[in-house]
Amino acid sequence: MAGTGVFADVLEGDVYKYYADGEWKKSSSGKSVAIINPMTRKTQYKVQACTQEEVNKVMESAKTAQKSWAKTPLWKRAELLHKAAAILKEHKAPIAECLVKEIAKPAKEAVTEVVRSGDLVSYTAEEGVRILGEGKFLVSDSFPGNQRTKYCLTSKIPLGVILAIPPFNYPVNLAVSKIAPALIAGNSLVLKPPTQGAVSALHMVHCFHLAGFPKGLISCVTGKGSEIGDFLTMHPGVNCISFTGGDTGIAISKKAGMIPLQMELGGKDACIVLEDADLDLVAANIIKGGFSYSGQRCTAVKVVLVMESVADLLVEKVKAKVAKLTVGAPEDDCDITPVVSESSANFIEGLVKDAKEKGATFCQEYKRDGNLIWPLLLDNVRPDMRIAWEEPFGPVLPVIRINSVEEGIHHCNASNFGLQGCVFTKDVNKAILISDAMETGTVQINSAPARGPDHFPFQGLKDSGIGSQGVTNSINMMTKIKTTVINLPTPSYTMG
Ligand code: G3H
Repeated sequence: MAGTGVFADVLEGDVYKYYADGEWKKSSSGKSVAIINPMTRKTQYKVQACTQEEVNKVMESAKTAQKSWAKTPLWKRAELLHKAAAILKEHKAPIAECLVKEIAKPAKEAVTEVVRSGDLVSYTAEEGVRILGEGKFLVSDSFPGNQRTKYCLTSKIPLGVILAIPPFNYPVNLAVSKIAPALIAGNSLVLKPPTQGAVSALHMVHCFHLAGFPKGLISCVTGKGSEIGDFLTMHPGVNCISFTGGDTGIAISKKAGMIPLQMELGGKDACIVLEDADLDLVAANIIKGGFSYSGQRCTAVKVVLVMESVADLLVEKVKAKVAKLTVGAPEDDCDITPVVSESSANFIEGLVKDAKEKGATFCQEYKRDGNLIWPLLLDNVRPDMRIAWEEPFGPVLPVIRINSVEEGIHHCNASNFGLQGCVFTKDVNKAILISDAMETGTVQINSAPARGPDHFPFQGLKDSGIGSQGVTNSINMMTKIKTTVINLPTPSYTMG
């Protein structure tokens, strides 16, 4: 159970502690931040409201700890990460319980998130050993005007202190996708978890604590964005920010100093359906892509662009599947569970009302109870409706009927977002041409968008992000290239 057994140190009274200098601490603010259970809409947990002074201390410790961590052999860093991964998986049940209570993740998906996270940490340890164990050797005479008098050795060195800010929808998995690459590359890590999801993240951090990482190397501060948000992202002690979330990331990127940024800021992933597509496959992927975790995934299918000639049939097939989705409590492992907050539910409702006023066809009756919104397919959506462009982050999916593939590509590319997209057709040649034309970081052919497997590159164009993620890219992103040049007194060519 959360906050008990091996996790007992994380909790004092009814407030979870923050993690600094290898210890669980209470904030000197004496204040806490409430985490509201999306299902009951009552306070489920409380976490410390950390102060700016506490952030300063964490940054100092992170800087000191990083210096000796960078000197820790790579195999030893990997060994500790493997240990943390095993502990994380061993304690999947209490961590999953937190995910259920604070972000209403369906029970089985919550367990999957923790297991996937353990796998990600282990994979990162192995990949780090491989790619950080190699450098380059260059000779000078390949560049015009040079003799072979210089040998250049390159290696990858850590950046320093990495600030990781994951979102509410994967507070464990998208935290470890930042923590593990940072650590294997020899960096220290300061984590600011989302408020909804903070307790899951604190439990995950405790698994790293139990694995025995040096004190100060990993810290986790909780609190109000208004108090420590900008203070963290603009802190001079931070050498790199890895952020996943909404358009706050755009503001962060404008305020951050001259440091590397890794940003993933959502998407409006289009699903283009051609006339020759296998409509049963499309319908199954629309359900999985559009409605899993109630549509609260940046890679969710967020607009269906279907050729008019097959639209009626596809809509019927999707409607039949929507009718089978279970709606209710995450503890009961329902398909559709409450969205994360009341303000999120209100925002979704605003999009639905706008679509209603402008004449969209409702395939189901709109129904809401608190934060719980029943799955809704909106047919005959037109570009003048907000839902055609905005991200509901909820179980509401618009269908736009198109008369040509070009029309579909045009709609996809007119979006400010460019995370992923997908195309369904049996003609692979056509699929490749459409993929090339879609301005998105990834295009899935005959499957719904998804970030995983976690070692695949993951990136967004335009407002969807900066840089690329995925295990290998994240390790590389959290390092710098260092070169040492050996200058020889005379050219040195191979013998013979
Ligand atoms: O919400 C954003 C995540 O990166 C999406 O990950 O495709 O595994 O659900 P996922």
